[in-house]
Amino acid sequence: MAQSKLPLSAGGIPRHVAIIMDGNGRWASARGLPRGEGHRRGVEALRKTVRAAGEIGISFLTVFSFSAENWSRPPSEIRDLMGLLRRFIRNDLAELHQNGVKVRVIGERSDLDPDIRRLLEEAEELTKANTGLTLVVAFNYGSRQEIARAAARIATKIKAGEIEPSAITADLIGQNLDAPDLPDPDLIIRTSGEQRLSNFLMWQSAYSELVFVPTYWPDFDRAALEGAIAEYHRRERRYGGLIAQTGS
Ligand code: FPP
Repeated sequence: MAQSKLPLSAGGIPRHVAIIMDGNGRWASARGLPRGEGHRRGVEALRKTVRAAGEIGISFLTVFSFSAENWSRPPSEIRDLMGLLRRFIRNDLAELHQNGVKVRVIGERSDLDPDIRRLLEEAEELTKANTGLTLVVAFNYGSRQEIARAAARIATKIKAGEIEPSAITADLIGQNLDAPDLPDPDLIIRTSGEQRLSNFLMWQSAYSELVFVPTYWPDFDRAALEGAIAEYHRRERRYGGLIAQTGS
């Protein structure tokens, strides 16, 4: 692994970085290209970013790859995005596995085509014992939907008499989210200049630092990731208290 050029003394590397990969369409339009080309270049940026994240020493990288709201896009674009996910898993899974990457998936799987569900399961199964970077693919993901799923799981346990309503705490809700074992993101990056969360990790981002970069996602690379981490280092994290915590 390449050595990080970041000043580790400046607060450490964020353990969990989450990215809203936005601006593929605008990247393509600016070049007179079809939107699909923007998404294809987006996958290349994703590959580079996964590699860079591992090299920098990030432990968890979550990427917003298809939102629950993306179904409202034209069918041809949805087909494109589904095709890219299929190809990403088929072409890149072996390399990810070789590099010790552990793949996890969050989001609602029941509405996905059975072959996509199988590919996602295969990626998780093949890489489950890996100890390198954890790559969390948020696919058909929406945060409100995830919180609703957690509520339904808790309600089922109450109905079965396993727990009392008085046992519902913020921790219990957190434990019933899609990937309860993952730490909350320290840093959330959104590309393309938009400044919103758009239904991404709203529960988990209570204390995350949000960094918005003007770069369209296909142009995002290691230098852009390091720039966002440098901005994270300039922030003081107080978690509602008075004393700044280290940024690691
Ligand atoms: C936002 O760009 C991006 C997405 C809707 C999906 C992100 C997907 C990728 C980076 C490639 C797919 C990767 C996998 C693994 C499936 P936009 O289309 O909203 O851009 P715009 O706001 O400029 O139109």
